[in-house]
Amino acid sequence: MSTTRYLTGITTTGTPHLGNFVGSIRPSVAASLTPGVQSFYFLADYHALIKCEDPVRIQRSTLEIAASWLAAGLNPEKVTFYRQSDIPEIPELTWLLTCVTGKGVLNRAHAYKASVDKNTAAGREQDDGVTAGLFMYPVLMGADILMFKAHKVPVGRDQIQHIEMARDMAASFNHLYGEHFVLPEAAIDDHVATLPGLDGRKMSKSYDNTIPLFSSREQLKKLIGSILTDSRAPGEAKEVEGSALFQIYQAFATPQETEALRKAYADGIAWGDAKQILFERVDQVIAPMRARYEELIHNPARIEQTLLAGAERARALATPFIRELRAAVGLRSLAQAPSAAKPVKSAKTALPSFKQYREADGKFYFKLVDAEGRLLLQSAAFDAPKDAGQAIAQLQKDPDALQALQARLVPVAGVSLSDAAAALHALAQAAAA
Ligand code: TRP
Repeated sequence: MSTTRYLTGITTTGTPHLGNFVGSIRPSVAASLTPGVQSFYFLADYHALIKCEDPVRIQRSTLEIAASWLAAGLNPEKVTFYRQSDIPEIPELTWLLTCVTGKGVLNRAHAYKASVDKNTAAGREQDDGVTAGLFMYPVLMGADILMFKAHKVPVGRDQIQHIEMARDMAASFNHLYGEHFVLPEAAIDDHVATLPGLDGRKMSKSYDNTIPLFSSREQLKKLIGSILTDSRAPGEAKEVEGSALFQIYQAFATPQETEALRKAYADGIAWGDAKQILFERVDQVIAPMRARYEELIHNPARIEQTLLAGAERARALATPFIRELRAAVGLRSLAQAPSAAKPVKSAKTALPSFKQYREADGKFYFKLVDAEGRLLLQSAAFDAPKDAGQAIAQLQKDPDALQALQARLVPVAGVSLSDAAAALHALAQAAAA
């Protein structure tokens, strides 16, 4: 079984909250323990610069996020856990991808378009306050993903477009310079809950309704006490539908425990008691991690070491790969033989093709050549162009027609009939796709 490589980045602008834990940290840590999976997790601090101009906050957030993931059980021996800005090959790759990305594609990126729409609605110039960093966000993200040949990228739905763009960048580059990149796919886990925040809307820093993952026990109790409920009195039956409290409980409790709370709602549990149950259940999950977190966060030098060790592992892949990519685009030693200048196109991106032509003898011919122009099939002479065309059509439709048409072909030195058949099959397959 070949391994599947998962990669995801976390922008270092905030403090992790319960929503991040349930939606990203917990499933990622669990996934990293699955056999046959190779995981890359990184702190997207270059991306953070696009949203945040406060250096203290960037540094603090990087520390808090790294400590949170490690406290939640991420094993840096088993996964590659690194900081984006420790990999200079990433900005270098960003430029190579920039040069194969249509500007119009970036114009259509959701985040950029949202800014433009906002400016337009407010009667401002469309790019008002928009940095080139925001515009280039998808290319930097593409470099993150393509650098490590990730197959799957676990992200929220809002990021799907970025993964599709990365895929397109990979395909364009491969088409121009040969098969270098893996085409990545978004991995969306529909079972993972989106946690509501204190006010019932999605828990998000931008709504200011979060419960920090590593609040103290007292702070956690206070915040859970402030979750919005309706005004039903003790003894009155409560609705689980639309209850933020219930949904948060569900994300932390077992199905049996959840059923018990559902029953308690129906039986008219007082909101105060329900909040106490939620608090104890969440704290039960968080407490052991909180202890590890406290230890880690007070030892930033150790986290720094962990990240640098991760970067070393990541660069062991990135450094040779960027060398290969530089050579592919022509950023090469001048001492290198110019014969190596031809891009390597593999059969996967570049298909063989038929050529039909007329020779000086007035007769009509066709040939099949591969992407590099090497001859695979050569026809004998046809009197009419129509006959040559029909033979091509037959071969395109059914590669096995090769046997029947043998009499109309001349042998090609160094190419067997089965080589030609394989090329025809590849062509037929691509046409069917
Ligand atoms: N843009 C992602 C987010 O906001 C963070 C990110 C940066 C990322 N680079 C990435 C995610 C590469 C996955 C892969 O959530």
